[in-house]
Amino acid sequence: MTPAWPVTELHAALGALVAGMTVEWVPEIDSTNTELMRRARAGDAAPVLLVAERQTAGRGRLGRPWQSASDAGPGTLDESLTFSLGLPLAPADWSGLSLAVGASVADSLDPEGAQIRLKWPNDLWTAQDRKLGGILIETAMPHGGEAQRFVVIGIGLNIGPRPAEGLNTAPAWLREFRADATAPQALAAIAAPLVRDVLRFAAQGFAPFTQAFAARDALHGRELSLSDGTIGACEGVGAGGELLVRTSAGLQSITSSEVSVRPKAGEVRG
Ligand code: BTN
Repeated sequence: MTPAWPVTELHAALGALVAGMTVEWVPEIDSTNTELMRRARAGDAAPVLLVAERQTAGRGRLGRPWQSASDAGPGTLDESLTFSLGLPLAPADWSGLSLAVGASVADSLDPEGAQIRLKWPNDLWTAQDRKLGGILIETAMPHGGEAQRFVVIGIGLNIGPRPAEGLNTAPAWLREFRADATAPQALAAIAAPLVRDVLRFAAQGFAPFTQAFAARDALHGRELSLSDGTIGACEGVGAGGELLVRTSAGLQSITSSEVSVRPKAGEVRG
């Protein structure tokens, strides 16, 4: 049986943080991010949390598809969590938002800090470098608004077992370390702290999240390959959330790149 989604409780909790914020649940949609971006482009920039039991065209970063276990159809409906938070925001500096979001979600699901690590810039990993979830952040310019943007923060999390076919590294899922986890419970744990942290980011930027990110940084101290062919050792992230990589040419600040960990000699991954 599909567990009940805490829509009423979340509405009360989120409405207390952001005036007028609504919480919507839908059984199926193309993509919660696509829907909130559609609304924003049509002039609807009302704050909302939209959760979908199933996405038919979920999107990841760099135009990749995001497939949920729920794609398997009815009966597996609690196997993943897919939702987007949309709200008008005007931070002085947007850099580091995905890192702050990752730190917030990880702290809510793994307060002891033993299980979830963060892979710059938008992945939730386990200690074995297996992907547990991802974050997709998009912004739209509300009609007539200059300072504010409408930000859509999409989060996809694997709750139950995921097949590994076609992937270099097997995915991870929340029930591996929270045996009774369900998608509605995970959402209940994540949502209010996430809204609080996004508001904090808007007021103070990435600075309040640097320690929380560093404590879970999956790349620090590791040899990396960047998508432009650069290789180097990761020295963590800078004050604005940029990735610091020590290369033969010196310390580089990376703000956008695909990053992968270079396997150590003889290491077999997967
Ligand atoms: C990534 O790892 O590349 C980011 C994945 C983000 C997936 C979530 S699921 C909810 C929201 N709707 C989408 O279509 N994508 C995000």
